[in-house]
Amino acid sequence: MAVWCFGSINIDHVYTLPHLPAPGETLAARGYRSALGGKGANQSVAAARAGAKVRHIGAVGSDGAAALAGLEVAGVDCRGVQQLEGPTGHAVIMVEPEGENSIVLCPGANRALSLEAAMAALDGVELDDILLIQNETAHQAEIAEAALGLGMDVVYSAAPFDLDAVQAVMPFVNTLVMNAVEAAQLQAALGVAFEDLPVSNVVVTRGAEGASWSSRGMDAIHVPALPVKVVDTTGAGDCFAGALAAALDRGAVPEEAMRFAAAAAALQVSRPGTAAAMPALSEIMALLGESG
Ligand code: RIB
Repeated sequence: MAVWCFGSINIDHVYTLPHLPAPGETLAARGYRSALGGKGANQSVAAARAGAKVRHIGAVGSDGAAALAGLEVAGVDCRGVQQLEGPTGHAVIMVEPEGENSIVLCPGANRALSLEAAMAALDGVELDDILLIQNETAHQAEIAEAALGLGMDVVYSAAPFDLDAVQAVMPFVNTLVMNAVEAAQLQAALGVAFEDLPVSNVVVTRGAEGASWSSRGMDAIHVPALPVKVVDTTGAGDCFAGALAAALDRGAVPEEAMRFAAAAAALQVSRPGTAAAMPALSEIMALLGESG
């Protein structure tokens, strides 16, 4: 059992602001920090802290030593991460007082990893291991197709939303995970209901309104969000996806996996940061115990 995460590794530059800037506005930040981020790295850290054995596949640039160390400290196996010339991917993240954010991405090494290197990093996969992917790398469709061929379960967090990427990857996906905005974009673009998407399971996260799991031919499962004081929503979807993959990997049924992921995300949004805010298994279990 293992979660293999093929995904981005970013250096996040986080600015706390009185509000998100309007076009043409210059705004002084109230705070700044730099930390490990990237949807892939965040999901790897979330899954590892939630108890899974995690192998990350990706790339950093020549300035990526600290990001790599951050993944390793969280317990992520980074044998499949290459160090390439050029910059590590990075993100400029602006967070306003209610915890909402805006993000600008520079892909850097994330999109420079060759298909051959990514494929080679799948060495050692076992039947029923999980492949977790997002949209901040190149070659997702090829890697997902190879993973299915190896007998893996493919969990696809379709963020940031990109219709072409979703359409290319969807034929090789078991479980598609989106937030409500991404789900609405997909439905509007394709004009089909979730039940008719060519994937077995569709998970939609809706922030304070909880999350749902729909499988073809079965009643949808809805889990509520756990009430917490929201400090920072950045990376909440990554936390949910990583924790969900960890729970599915240890054999949890969908409802149990969804409750586990919802508890992890509730803890994550109650603290500032992305990868650094991912909760430990013990914290998730304690919150689930408290909430009955
Ligand atoms: O989902 C949050 C992440 O999006 C950040 O860590 C940032 O790096 C971007 O990838």
